[in-house]
Amino acid sequence: MHNVKKIGIVGAGQMGGGIAQVGAVSGFEIRLQDTSAGVLDTCRGSHKKRLGRLVEKGTLSQDDADAALDRLTYTERLDDLADCDIVIEAVIEDAALKKELFQKFAAMFTHGQILATNTSSISITQIATAAGDAADRVIGMHFFNPVPVMKLVEVIKGLATSQDTTSRTLALAEAMGKTPVPANDRAGFVSNRVLMPMINEAFYAWMEGVAEPAHIDQIMTLGMAHPMGPLRLADFIGLDTCVHIMDVLADGLNREHYRACPLLKQLVTAGRLGDKAGRGVFDHPG
Ligand SMILES: NC(=O)c1ccc[n+]([C@@H]2O[C@H](COP(=O)([O-])OP(=O)(O)OC[C@H]3O[C@@H](n4cnc5c(N)ncnc54)[C@H](O)[C@@H]3O)[C@@H](O)[C@H]2O)c1
Repeated sequence: MHNVKKIGIVGAGQMGGGIAQVGAVSGFEIRLQDTSAGVLDTCRGSHKKRLGRLVEKGTLSQDDADAALDRLTYTERLDDLADCDIVIEAVIEDAALKKELFQKFAAMFTHGQILATNTSSISITQIATAAGDAADRVIGMHFFNPVPVMKLVEVIKGLATSQDTTSRTLALAEAMGKTPVPANDRAGFVSNRVLMPMINEAFYAWMEGVAEPAHIDQIMTLGMAHPMGPLRLADFIGLDTCVHIMDVLADGLNREHYRACPLLKQLVTAGRLGDKAGRGVFDHPG
């Protein structure tokens, strides 16, 4: 039993916005916080647009879409989340920033609330050190992109995470219409430890001229039945996020094999971050 009515989400980017949408459609009150007013505006607009599209497709009634929009609140103030029953952090993949937030969460949420992070790769145990006595309530709740479409939530237990926190998190993910799968706390968990080296290798194959990007992707979609090639997927995830995750794998698992490909890093330096920047490996106009 999760006992959650109100979900606080910190970070309204690709992931936080998606988690908020899914939560609101599943009947939860949502408080979505971001430090950028512009990001919150964009997010509000895209919630309207995306729910409108579901109505057009006939997968959601107009009444349900309106009710979901009513359940969404957007704010720049972290304090506005104080009465939430759980907080899910979805800011950029930066360990120092996440730890700073979890220190605040431990002081703000003192009534047994779950303190969840959507990190792709950073150790839950490491993030939990910032929460002090509340470390038993810190857990990884790793949603996948795009959140409204992807069924999986990888639920990651840190060293101190209690069984009660884990059980409540699994129940909440199910109540959000997802399929939670538990994993233990190693850098990259299961998903990115397996996925990211493949994406990184695709950049090496491109850098070494083994094939051009479109052909690398075609080989992986047609030959391995992947729904999307690794380079297209990298653009979708965000090339900066891919570099962050490779850094975490290299440091956490202590193997050079996980170092980010120089070409991947060069694209990030040039601002070619993928879909969100309009250009990454491929062009993404509009
Ligand atoms: N992109 C993916 O495919 C994917 C998938 C699973 C998990 N994740 C993880 O989810 C998290 C978010 O990724 P994203 O792709 O949504 O990133 P994003 O860059 O789209 O969004 C991050 C948001 O955090 C906000 N932010 C930064 N500092 C903040 C602060 N102090 N307080 C509140 N908001 C702040 C930014 O304004 C931005 O809107 C990362 O930890 C990432 O590793 C990403």
